[in-house]
Amino acid sequence: MNEFTALAQYYDRFVGADYPKIAEFIDVKIKALFPEASLVCDIGCGSGTLALSLLEKGYDMIGIDGSIDMLTEALDKRADLPNGDRALFLCQQLPEFELYGTVDVIVSTLDTLNYLTSKEDLDQLFYWFRNYLNPEGLLIFDVNTLYKYQELLDQHCEIFEDDDVFLAWRSQFDGTLCSHQLSFFSKENNCYARSDEEQLQRYYSQKDLLDLLAKYNFKLLGIFDDYSEKAPNEKSQRLTFVAKKED
Ligand SMILES: C[S@@+](CC[C@H](N)C(=O)[O-])C[C@H]1O[C@@H](n2cnc3c(N)ncnc32)[C@H](O)[C@@H]1O
Repeated sequence: MNEFTALAQYYDRFVGADYPKIAEFIDVKIKALFPEASLVCDIGCGSGTLALSLLEKGYDMIGIDGSIDMLTEALDKRADLPNGDRALFLCQQLPEFELYGTVDVIVSTLDTLNYLTSKEDLDQLFYWFRNYLNPEGLLIFDVNTLYKYQELLDQHCEIFEDDDVFLAWRSQFDGTLCSHQLSFFSKENNCYARSDEEQLQRYYSQKDLLDLLAKYNFKLLGIFDDYSEKAPNEKSQRLTFVAKKED
């Protein structure tokens, strides 16, 4: 399991994701492709921002994540929402997960699938996706591209700074696996306390994912450049797949 411990409390500050755009993209796809959908499961929901944005758009939500620290952030945010009780957060380790029932849509965003570093685990996850989706259910997920791993993350170091924390983020890519080392320096009185964590991701090709969709009888409805309506190009950093469960 990758660590999302020290990162959890700072994740929202450093993630730099356009959640309103992601939530809008997902909402538009659901309304166009499965308008009766009401229950959505967010796999690897992290600190819950997307799940709670979809809740605000009217969906009942289940969020699953293996990091109790990320889920604690999600629960804090949920407490501020009047209809927060319509979002259920569960701490479970992928690839196996238990939903106690089926859902209309499964989403998994911001390279959560890349954190499954064996092909067998990813295969297992798709098995459970199929198992827990209602007939005609939608599957919407993204993965990082080879371009991003090779050109932007290999031998890369980046510094992020905010009022009370300084983050050094290093990464290397070996053609298959990308390791990330994160060092946080958080201000405590007149000192900085250091905490480190490591994360490991695996690159999956478009073919890997198309093979899994075919194996578990999903019909591909589209592959997009990130969460735009554009087709991917050679400099796309993230591919977003939209698929439908077939009988
Ligand atoms: C980059 S974050 C994305 C979070 C969220 N989807 C978002 O859009 O902000 C990846 C998430 O996947 C979770 N994760 C990674 N590997 C996991 C595993 N094997 N089981 C459960 N959760 C996992 C992490 O805890 C983390 O919250």
